[in-house]
Amino acid sequence: MSDADQNDGQPRTESHDPKVPEAWQKFMRTGWGDRDLDLPRHPVADLAAQRRARLAANFPGERLVLPAGTFKVRSNDTDYRFRSDTAHTYYSGNQTSDAVLVVDSDSTGAGESVLYARPRSARDTDEFFRDRQYGELWAGRRPSTHELSTSLGLEVRHIDDLPDLAGAKTRDLTTDAELARVASEMRLVKDEWEIEQLQEACDITALGFEDSVREWDRVLEYGERWIEGTFFRRARAMGNDIGYDSIVGGGKHATTLHWIDNTGPITPGELVLLDMGVENRSLYTADVTRTLPVDGTFTPLQRELYDLVLAAQEAGIQAVRPGVPFLAAHDAAMEVLAHGLEGMGLLPVPAAEALDPDNKVYARWTLHGTSHMLGLDVHDCGRASDDAYRNGTLDEGYVLTVEPGLYFQEDDLLVPEELRGIGIRIEDDILVTAEGHRNLSASLPRTSTDVEEWMGALRG
Ligand code: GLY
Ligand code: MN
Repeated sequence: MSDADQNDGQPRTESHDPKVPEAWQKFMRTGWGDRDLDLPRHPVADLAAQRRARLAANFPGERLVLPAGTFKVRSNDTDYRFRSDTAHTYYSGNQTSDAVLVVDSDSTGAGESVLYARPRSARDTDEFFRDRQYGELWAGRRPSTHELSTSLGLEVRHIDDLPDLAGAKTRDLTTDAELARVASEMRLVKDEWEIEQLQEACDITALGFEDSVREWDRVLEYGERWIEGTFFRRARAMGNDIGYDSIVGGGKHATTLHWIDNTGPITPGELVLLDMGVENRSLYTADVTRTLPVDGTFTPLQRELYDLVLAAQEAGIQAVRPGVPFLAAHDAAMEVLAHGLEGMGLLPVPAAEALDPDNKVYARWTLHGTSHMLGLDVHDCGRASDDAYRNGTLDEGYVLTVEPGLYFQEDDLLVPEELRGIGIRIEDDILVTAEGHRNLSASLPRTSTDVEEWMGALRG
């Protein structure tokens, strides 16, 4: 149901909006020229057609429904900026709100697709100058069905013509687990164009990290908030957005895995953990973590811990190649960390025993898995089956993170006091290639020495 239906066809207005006398209304509806949007053909148009064909082949004789979604309320009458559903965009290229992709698969599995979209409002109703959500004079000019069709290489009809989607042979992505699974698993292998998008997202992300270090004086003055804002500026300037809320953990905040409050200070002598990723304009996101010494140089203890996490990450990255289990990177990284923790005298049992999947006591200090798929979503392909993902094997074209960490909570009585409140994670975005792997985020330094040199150069 479109929002216009929910509003009984009335434009979405607010109680404080001025009254619209008939004279104004009539005058507004006249005297406008025609002006087409000049939308070039979308570079993903042909790829999306191939994807739809493959999707349809999985469901002969069925109708597949993939909605773009609509606006989400932030507060009262204020919405978040729209971001289209990942699967919808993957199979259509469309990023406009309130559209629905319908793929009709015939008995042989051949698909016919129509995108039902909400075009810009006509000038013979009030919507274009009164509706805060869809009105052109409030929210901007939406593409017409014709413009969208030309751009996406796909038949586009008005959303009001969406057929009745109730029916036994209809699967809706929002409710159908089987369609969600197939649609997700098809995204595991990234094609060349997607890899370019991810590389771009990583490259812009690297610039955002650099921006943050360049502004270190302000970081020290304003704390975590300055880094969050600085990174966001780069994400908006060159990409679409951040791919997930930035995690800026100064000092003990680094031990909170998803610290997104970013309200704390950045304190000399401590570390700061930055987990940040730019979503590019095709909606592909990077997901990169670096842990930096606030002073620009690591203390001996910080360096020792950092180098242990780096060794674990390196072991994880080296494990990535076609044909190995998805969990190979995790297992390799945990092997290093468990032995490191044993060497520090922290484990209550030998590392070999702790590494037994039925024991895992080392994980008190490692907490999370080492990898997830990356793509249009930061945690990509999330509806794939365990067989295809968690318990599956890596294939050429997969992109995954490798991001081990060590976290010593401030109230952990089982570690020496000097470790309490330290959190370290290092994360890169790794493409599985025929030969092994390629690190898409390699332009950011990883070794403790390289991190120090890089900070020194940027801080001037
Ligand atoms: N970047 C946050 C996460 O991977 O959960
Ligand atoms: Mn991650």
